[in-house]
Amino acid sequence: MPTGRKTILPQSGFSTRSVHAGHDNSNDPHRSLITPIYQTASYEFEHVSDLWDFYEKRSTRLAEYARYGTPTQRALELALAALDNAENALVTSSGMNAITTALMGLMQAGDHFVCLAEGYRGTFKLFDQHLTRFGLSLTYCDLTLAAIEKACTPKTKVIFLELPTNPYLKLVDLEEVVRFARTKGLMTVVDATFASPYNMNPLDYGADLVVHSLTKYINGHNDVVAGAVLGSKELVEKIKPVRNLLGSNPDAHMCYLISRGIKTFALRMEKHNRSSLAVAEFLEKHKNIERVWYPMLASHPHHALAKKYLRGGSGIVTFTVEAKDDSQTERLKASTAFVEALKIPTHAASLGGVESLVHQPTVMNYYDLSPDARLAAGIPDNLVRLSVGIEDTDDLIADLDEALKRI
Ligand SMILES: Cc1ncc(COP(=O)(O)O)c(C=O)c1O
Repeated sequence: MPTGRKTILPQSGFSTRSVHAGHDNSNDPHRSLITPIYQTASYEFEHVSDLWDFYEKRSTRLAEYARYGTPTQRALELALAALDNAENALVTSSGMNAITTALMGLMQAGDHFVCLAEGYRGTFKLFDQHLTRFGLSLTYCDLTLAAIEKACTPKTKVIFLELPTNPYLKLVDLEEVVRFARTKGLMTVVDATFASPYNMNPLDYGADLVVHSLTKYINGHNDVVAGAVLGSKELVEKIKPVRNLLGSNPDAHMCYLISRGIKTFALRMEKHNRSSLAVAEFLEKHKNIERVWYPMLASHPHHALAKKYLRGGSGIVTFTVEAKDDSQTERLKASTAFVEALKIPTHAASLGGVESLVHQPTVMNYYDLSPDARLAAGIPDNLVRLSVGIEDTDDLIADLDEALKRI
């Protein structure tokens, strides 16, 4: 496993890897403690023979041109690989770009892939409105192995799983899916954004590639949009030209910010895990709450899978608030009154940062559907998704309690 500094062993604990992995100042005359921001578009070849060396050993030379990567970016990639037990990693300009790059690298026109029917709606829009325009086809299926098997065709190349899912935090038995995929020669790609490498490492269960939106827990500060693809040396090399030719490398400053965020990754995740479990337990007992989904609650439909695959539940708690009646109008009124009464969580898109954010799927990701279509898509209008930040848990619970009195 590449870890930058020689002293950081692959078996070092997660926090040690978070703080140190990726940084390598052995060729730096200033011995900088932190990997610098290489704000340059291009790099000098000192000798013409460097060029020959470069073409022959393309992957070993650190930098040529910023669209192919910068030393700041490479330090981030090595850190990410160390955190996800991957041989190599590629960072990209967004989580969406990581998904696009991975799938473009693995498939070609005429191929088919299978995708779980529950997940981030942006991903579904990318698949339905764009990837299918370029000759790829896909089948959505339920979250069971039987449904995945049934959805596969002789043209299937990839099984794409978002685990846990957005917004209900559901899972599938990854080991079973990987076993099936291997018997059929299929690739398994896991979007593990909601778990983050702190809570789950899909490569350990045999997944071929992992993708992350670094925008969420890994950067953790709600100030950068970026993504990553991780896997074996061979697969990452195979898909790297897609990213380099699409030009979707994040710039060096973004990479620096994410590397900075990673230093406190373990501390932040520990707090997200603890605080969101306390929030989920509080909400579950509250009379103005209809239902709560949090994978570490015994009431979650996939709690047994969560215990098998997740070290913690991360920071998302999804719930429905009680409404006067079951009409979508009353449901929307109740969730709106609740969201507007909250003082600490900000009503905003995204998740996984230090600030708590609250999100009404009805008016954000699903705004363009009619109330009935939303319901059919599994999104009732009293649904709320809370991204629990790292504020004091007692303050968050007191704020939720006050806001629930308003509905
Ligand atoms: C599970 C999941 N995957 C991917 C993405 C896309 O990430 P980005 O916004 O960094 O492109 C999101 C965004 O919310 C997400 O929730």
